[in-house]
Amino acid sequence: MTDESVNAPTIDPHATGPEGPSEWLQAWPEACVVGQVGQSLDGRVATPTGHSHYINGLPSRRFLHQLRAQVDAVVIGVGTALADQPQLTVRHAPGPNPARVILDPNARINLDNPALTNDGVEVVVMVGERASMPAWPTHLKVVRLPLSDRGFEPKAVLDVLNARGMNRVLVEGGATTLSRFIGAQCLDRLYCMIAPLIIGSGPTGIALPPIDRLDEAIRAPMKGVNLDGEWLVEVRFEHKAC
Ligand SMILES: NC(=O)c1ccc[n+]([C@@H]2O[C@H](COP(=O)([O-])OP(=O)(O)OC[C@H]3O[C@@H](n4cnc5c(N)ncnc54)[C@H](OP(=O)(O)O)[C@@H]3O)[C@@H](O)[C@H]2O)c1
Repeated sequence: MTDESVNAPTIDPHATGPEGPSEWLQAWPEACVVGQVGQSLDGRVATPTGHSHYINGLPSRRFLHQLRAQVDAVVIGVGTALADQPQLTVRHAPGPNPARVILDPNARINLDNPALTNDGVEVVVMVGERASMPAWPTHLKVVRLPLSDRGFEPKAVLDVLNARGMNRVLVEGGATTLSRFIGAQCLDRLYCMIAPLIIGSGPTGIALPPIDRLDEAIRAPMKGVNLDGEWLVEVRFEHKAC
């Protein structure tokens, strides 16, 4: 036994605090960027064939809808728009629908995608400066952004949204979109919903450039609660750069 283990604090397995998801959400600052990922125990979001519905159960999906209800805008990548045909509305929790923002540098989204529905909510499609576009309906706000070899800079995306009065933003996914915001240190919080299954192979919810040493890894304090058999973890990033 090392000195370190002798001096380690005793862990009380029955210790619980009163704090839970509601308190976490109430503690958000007025302006914040939060991400979410629903994943398996081994960090995966789909099988290798892309089958992903559903990894998480209803309690986690309810929490996702609570997140949507709490933000001004929800951001997805065009990969998710095409794969999931998502509505991005609030259905499993009380609260208003957020604006919908699709990052689509090559203007690949189809006009009949449910995320583009004209339902009174602001819909913003961010496209590259040189993307050729069809004549899109006037309810869509099309914003052209510069593209670097890393795509749109997450800070540039947030600047556009902030200028439109959208100060609380949920980056809902998928992995490419979420990973770029994490890599650019543009998230204040990350919510991981961890379902009790091991998929074993397939894409992970977060993928960043490789590092050699663990001291280069992003470390951040986290809290967790059990959501009817799944774990909901809140990660608070302390060094936000944008
Ligand atoms: N488990 C979950 O919580 C969760 C949540 C959401 C989605 N998903 C799943 O994730 C899968 C899709 O993930 P994905 O990683 O393939 O796609 P994605 O992140 O939804 O979309 C990726 C595409 O969006 C565009 N994009 C995203 N960020 C960009 C940026 N900063 N700058 C420029 N372009 C950007 C690019 O389009 P171009 O390719 O045109 O360059 C990129 O290839 C789906 O199967 C969906 O079901 C899972």
